[in-house]
Amino acid sequence: MENTERKDRVLSMIQPTSVPTLGNYLGALKNWKQMSADNDCIFAVADLHAITVRQEPAKLRKQSLEMYALMIALGLDPDKNIIFVQSHVPQHSQLGWILNCYTQFGEAARMTQFKDKSAKHADNVNVGLFAYPTLMAADILLYQADYVPVGADQKQHLEITRDIAERFNGAYSPTFTIPKPYIGKTGAKVMSLQDPTKKMSKSDTNPKASVYVLDTPDDIMKKFKSAVTDSEARVHYADGKDGINNLMGIYSCCTGKNFDEIEAEFDGKGYGDFKIAVAESVIADVKPVQDRFNEIMKDKAYVEKCAKEGAEKASYIANKTLTKVMKKVGFWQVK
Ligand code: TRP
Repeated sequence: MENTERKDRVLSMIQPTSVPTLGNYLGALKNWKQMSADNDCIFAVADLHAITVRQEPAKLRKQSLEMYALMIALGLDPDKNIIFVQSHVPQHSQLGWILNCYTQFGEAARMTQFKDKSAKHADNVNVGLFAYPTLMAADILLYQADYVPVGADQKQHLEITRDIAERFNGAYSPTFTIPKPYIGKTGAKVMSLQDPTKKMSKSDTNPKASVYVLDTPDDIMKKFKSAVTDSEARVHYADGKDGINNLMGIYSCCTGKNFDEIEAEFDGKGYGDFKIAVAESVIADVKPVQDRFNEIMKDKAYVEKCAKEGAEKASYIANKTLTKVMKKVGFWQVK
């Protein structure tokens, strides 16, 4: 019998501001393929969000294309899922503006990411940075997404999205699906290899602190070999052993082994052997993605065709929601 049950719609987006780190990969991207098998998934490159911080045009263009290709390289199927670039679908900006008018200054000003980024980029505290959460709300609400996988840093933005949606639904009539956080398989939280008390970040200025999904096997090996650990020289998980705990988390995520198994495997061995094993497990995990990425990047026409079709499919859905919203708000519509 044909399965006619409606699958949940899950929406994920990622900014093209750098090659994803191992943290982005193990925490999110690695799970996307499975997530797309179980749900009706929409994936996008959030380039409109990227310009809330000054970007170099050529670099933004290149990284957007690469991020798009990387999504396909992860095993996402552009025929089965909708995969697109945010700026190719004008409804995001259009709904974003409308939602700005349904969001209070005070609520947006409370966003911790806004406060953090304002402090970090004090010379460019632009209005876009302030409106970042309302654009993100538009991303989510346009597609009537049931679930959104969010890391800790984006949780508050999903909450404000729900508040805005509820407010709009209450002021007019049910228009938006209220999105929930997607609780999938949780990947490891990956910490910096140089300061394992800090999260691995793409904005880290120490090049040895972060591993990137497209790093060469050589670079990955070197970075793990110079990872900061402790002086105990015993592979086991314990409070205060942040470096080793981090490596164990990464190794567990890449091999599927649990911490007891890892401790047993490295019983009597030093950190040197362990670091090499962790690096090898990471290389084995990302290598197929890298190979596929390099293949796809040779065929730019194919990537462009996918992006174009993805934007058309996205736009079709987005337009239905936007049209409803515009009608409810009271815009004069001419046929
Ligand atoms: N702000 C998200 C991040 O930096 C990216 C993003 C933009 C997003 N729009 C979204 C994530 C919609 C989920 C849903 O991680």
